[in-house]
Amino acid sequence: MLRKTMIAGNWKMNGDASNLSYFKELASSIVPNSAADVLVCPPVTLLARAVEACQGSSIQLGAQDCHVAQSGAHTGDIAVSMLKDAGAAYVIVGHSERRADHAETNEMVQCKAEAVLSQGLKPIICIGETLADRESGLAQEVVGAQLAGSVPKEGADNLVIAYEPVWAIGTGLTASLDDIASMHAFIRAQLAEPEITQILYGGSVKPGNAAEILALQDVDGALVGGASLTADNFSMIVNAV
Ligand code: 13P
Repeated sequence: MLRKTMIAGNWKMNGDASNLSYFKELASSIVPNSAADVLVCPPVTLLARAVEACQGSSIQLGAQDCHVAQSGAHTGDIAVSMLKDAGAAYVIVGHSERRADHAETNEMVQCKAEAVLSQGLKPIICIGETLADRESGLAQEVVGAQLAGSVPKEGADNLVIAYEPVWAIGTGLTASLDDIASMHAFIRAQLAEPEITQILYGGSVKPGNAAEILALQDVDGALVGGASLTADNFSMIVNAV
């Protein structure tokens, strides 16, 4: 099998030192020799401590954003080399919340993804249409433009795409299985190396719907927000693989 399944948790702006026991709990709740790669992206303040807490387990850690430059006068920003130094293996870039809150464009997201690749880490590049896009029949067009504009032209074997319809994030609404299947097939058809690039689905994935979503042909895993915040829920999603 060319593409392994990945279950990635995005804690977003949640969590502090009191949540570090999560990692031991998660490690002990995942079935041994799980077929899935397991990744958790805590807030950057917890990254190094989370890496320490995960030693001896197969859980990998990632960050939720980065700057495009490797150092310099960018107050408050974090370079990929710093995330690597803290122990991150992946960096989420272009999450719809960053596109909305920080006006990140496809071009900026592409530069961030290239910065991640240049440090030997793997970007998880997020794309997804809004409800207005979908209701006006523009979902594929928007997602196609995001793919063309945000995905680096090189490094196909080291990048991950996350399709997260904006209207399904944190709302409890999930796209229908047919819609997920057809959008993932569409995304795969646009990729430079379709057989090797992982495409994750995100948007209200939870223990109750994970198995049916993960069973879809072009779905190579999930990017999980709310349900990744407890080891109990997140391990059930991992164990659904
Ligand atoms: P929810 O799983 O909370 O809908 O969030 C999805 C997401 O945005 C993951 O990046």
